[in-house]
Amino acid sequence: MMDLLIPDKTHDESRQGEALMLEQADNKYNGRKLYIESYGCAMNFSDSEIVASILLNKGFETTTDYNNADVVFINTCSIRENAEQRVRNRLKEFTVAKVKNPGMIVGVLGCMAERLKSKFLEEEKLVDVVVGPDAYRDLPNLIDQVDDGARAVNVLLSREETYADINPVRLNSNGINAFVSIMRGCDNMCSFCVVPFTRGRERSRDPQSIINECQSLFDQGYREVTLLGQNVDSYKWKPTVEGDSISTDEIKGTNFAQLLEMVALISPELRVRFSTSHPKDITDEVLYTIAKYDNICNYIHLPVQSGNSRVLELMNRTYDRDWYMDRVNAIRRIIPECAISTDVIAGFCTETEEEHQETLSMMDFVRYDYAYMFMYSERPGTLAAKRFADDIPDTVKNRRLNEIVNKQRQHSHERLQAQVGKVKRVLIEGFSKKSTNDYCGRSDQNAMVVFPVTENYKPGQYVNVLVERCTTATLIGKVV
Ligand code: SAH
Ligand code: SF4
Ligand code: F3S
Repeated sequence: MMDLLIPDKTHDESRQGEALMLEQADNKYNGRKLYIESYGCAMNFSDSEIVASILLNKGFETTTDYNNADVVFINTCSIRENAEQRVRNRLKEFTVAKVKNPGMIVGVLGCMAERLKSKFLEEEKLVDVVVGPDAYRDLPNLIDQVDDGARAVNVLLSREETYADINPVRLNSNGINAFVSIMRGCDNMCSFCVVPFTRGRERSRDPQSIINECQSLFDQGYREVTLLGQNVDSYKWKPTVEGDSISTDEIKGTNFAQLLEMVALISPELRVRFSTSHPKDITDEVLYTIAKYDNICNYIHLPVQSGNSRVLELMNRTYDRDWYMDRVNAIRRIIPECAISTDVIAGFCTETEEEHQETLSMMDFVRYDYAYMFMYSERPGTLAAKRFADDIPDTVKNRRLNEIVNKQRQHSHERLQAQVGKVKRVLIEGFSKKSTNDYCGRSDQNAMVVFPVTENYKPGQYVNVLVERCTTATLIGKVV
């Protein structure tokens, strides 16, 4: 069994009684073993921690070996066709284990579950449960249905669910970095994207529950939180007004810049990161807040998708090339040391050679520190699938992607090289992948830094590292 932090049940006396009764009533789950594997974005990994919390509270234990699990869950991603293919291949391995152990429950969670719904049960005969991202509270009930011999589906999306009150169990944690979900869903409808269909409408989580979670992580020794949402800059929380005893401040609610500040104020020793920023929504207020607090990391993930305004319009990104450049200029002006990363799609519908060149020239303009780069993959049901032909041949998509990747490789290297000779504050995360003689950790700008172990320091502490050289992806130095 993994080393797990048992989630706080509740601090409220009256509800503690309830929790105890629940535990007694749920003895049937005690000792059952849960295996959960996650694919896709950080949001999915964070959701798996909520799922684990819900089931551990019911008496489940987790296991890292699916062969001896009673319940095997795969938390899935639909973003590109190959993401779904990877899940299906893995599912085959799980169903082989199920043939050996017929009592095993195999469940599909997350975005693919939401996209395919009960069709999944027709396609994959050995899957017992299909559960969408807003239905995880229903898991114990769904497991009961399977215990009673049925196959179970719950893919209802919600306008309210944020799992605000659930204290996630940290899975595969190093005890230093944690994801904290601040909102769910997406209202943007980028034409290529399946997320609005798999995750539903955008909703923000109560800021107090976010602060409580971050404070509790800090108290447990965590030193870095990453605030998660598909579009964090549109975070907006408004209290529901009951009666008339509410101040005007409360009615105004909390925006993302204010939330960032509240989290930063927990402790100067707690680093704050966030992802993802949408170019149309990132405000100067957010940039000034980042600049104001040393512990809000100087790193922004700002997906561009394309450098050409016509393609951006077809993508329904709601900004154009000039707007994006203006946002980059604002970042450079307000936070001069800020690292910027991006997502790029090669070969979107009707993209011409000249338009592709504009993506490359945008990369030259920004000089991204890092990029995630993809060939366009048509997703059923999206606006692009309905409106445009996926007309760029794979060979062309592939060649364009290679040009993008090669350029990014140069830029990443260049950006790392510019750090050589500088002293960087690094949060030690653990031993480096290659050797227990070296520690690794990240700089404020999110660059991986490797340096020899020094006796006086251990993971979770900050050190100043003089960068002496770099490889293509890592800075190498020594503590000063
Ligand atoms: N909310 C984030 C992105 C989430 S999806 C944002 O708005 O930027 C992560 C990335 O996957 C996207 O930025 C995009 O670059 C890529 N992506 C999404 N749908 C895709 C598709 N159909 N084909 C190829 N890449 C896609
Ligand atoms: Fe998808 Fe666009 Fe929403 Fe990002 S902002 S999740 S790309 S629809
Ligand atoms: Fe994939 Fe769903 Fe995230 S489609 S990228 S797991 S929101």
